[in-house]
Amino acid sequence: MRFLLPLAAIALFAACSGEVEDSRPGQPVKTRQQAFKDILRSFEPMGVMLRDKTYDADKFLTLANDLVARRDAPWAHFGPDTDYPPTKATAEVWRQPEKFAEKKQAFIAAADALLAAARTKDGKQLDAPYQAVYDACQDCHKTFRRR
Ligand code: HEC
Repeated sequence: MRFLLPLAAIALFAACSGEVEDSRPGQPVKTRQQAFKDILRSFEPMGVMLRDKTYDADKFLTLANDLVARRDAPWAHFGPDTDYPPTKATAEVWRQPEKFAEKKQAFIAAADALLAAARTKDGKQLDAPYQAVYDACQDCHKTFRRR
């Protein structure tokens, strides 16, 4: 009983959180999911600043630089044969590689434009380029990520 108890507790936790472990070598699914979480971690605080009118030019610029530094991280981990649990990607990623690449490029261009705008340190010029990045995320997710 002493050994069974912790195992049962772990199984319960796994069921509750809905997590499936990525057991493949190199963990491509987990790695790309983490890369997207890191992108979100740079991106979201910029939106908070704009919404709450707490714009800080230096902080915003740091976040925009972080976003651009992280924008390339997920893509190499969408290799062939990496459509397996726990992925939230749709099969369209592998069925429509050109469209996926197009959405990726649009996102990269939008992130670059946001960084260029952040460098002006003019808080009034940031809503549109921020929104454009947001739209690029959504535009890809609507086809390529399950909700
Ligand atoms: C070119 C397509 C594309 C773009 C652009 C894109 N994503 Fe995603 N995103 C995906 C796909 C596909 C997944 C699912 C990955 C998986 O589970 O294997 C995903 C997953 C995520 C996740 C969930 C990670 C997890 O732990 O399950 C977050 C958060 C996320 N994206 C945020 C963003 C944000 C924020 C942006 C824009 C700043 C963005 N994404 C831009 C395709 C994209």
